[in-house]
Amino acid sequence: MPWRKTKDPYAIWVSEIMLQQTQVDTVIPYFNRWMHTFPTIKKLAQAKDEKVLKMWEGLGYYSRARNLQKAAQMVAKEHGGKLPKDSAQLSSLPGIGPYSLGAISSIAFELPIAAVDGNVLRVVSRLFEIHKNIKDKKTVDEVREIVTALFSDKDRGDMTQAWMELGATVCLPTNPKCLICPLQKLCAAKKKNLTDKLPIVSKRPKTKKVVTAAIILKRENTFLLEKRPLGKIMGGLWLFPTVELPGPVNKHKQEISALFEKEFGIKVKPANQLLTLSHSYTVHRAQLNVFLAQGTTPKKLHPDLNWINESRLKETPFPAVHAKIIDQILN
Ligand code: ADE
Ligand code: SF4
Repeated sequence: MPWRKTKDPYAIWVSEIMLQQTQVDTVIPYFNRWMHTFPTIKKLAQAKDEKVLKMWEGLGYYSRARNLQKAAQMVAKEHGGKLPKDSAQLSSLPGIGPYSLGAISSIAFELPIAAVDGNVLRVVSRLFEIHKNIKDKKTVDEVREIVTALFSDKDRGDMTQAWMELGATVCLPTNPKCLICPLQKLCAAKKKNLTDKLPIVSKRPKTKKVVTAAIILKRENTFLLEKRPLGKIMGGLWLFPTVELPGPVNKHKQEISALFEKEFGIKVKPANQLLTLSHSYTVHRAQLNVFLAQGTTPKKLHPDLNWINESRLKETPFPAVHAKIIDQILN
């Protein structure tokens, strides 16, 4: 790997940015061409931006190239074209996050600042048997502390690259080569046969956006409320009758009446929109639009619906967002 034959901080910086989302084999020719075309930070700072992007063509994630040039221009202007060693100054450059900071600081400057990538997370989770989701920032922070504490007082750059390389070549995601691993005698996962259980990688569920409309229908001192069926989401709680809209409220206002008729068999006309509230439940991010309504209900009410006296609202269990509506209308 050509970047291992140099201590030029600029070259190490370029290599680490390229290696962040791209395989070593792919990076090598790009790295060589880049260093030939822009051999110094000053040359990169002065280059035409189209040429910079051209040199990146095919590597993907082009903001990496734009950030490299932007950062080079800042370094040329503010640091005389020399990459600063200071962590705060390095971190303030575009494209340099915690991983790049650690990689550059340890490999180029021999500073004990850890670089935690996916490989390092896997090795450390197994070695110390960390049963925590490596997608959580807290886990990454914990691993970074461990790796930081384990730096020796020399060869910090080699240590950083050794963690990564062990993950890339020995401590593989499936079927790690424990028998040839230099850490096998120390490794908790190996000892306890947990290598196929660790690391824990669970992606956060994608949040779903939901737009709903609720109506406030009042008759004398009673409000029409919906009791959520047990076993359904928010089961057992009371709500102002709510329907889900197929999209933004301003585009689907006309359909609200029909949706209530279909869902609850009631004929209502939403009049004024009283409130818009945002709330979350499970994986949903919901926008709840609350309307004052007029309308009639059939004698035989839908089984989930009930007229509840105002005086009982205080003891009725509502999801937080509907409790807010109660506060608003009672005040
Ligand atoms: N991946 C990220 N940084 C690396 C490095 N310095 N050597 C090999 N692979 C890497
Ligand atoms: Fe990974 Fe196996 Fe080495 Fe443990 S012993 S660090 S699981 S390769």
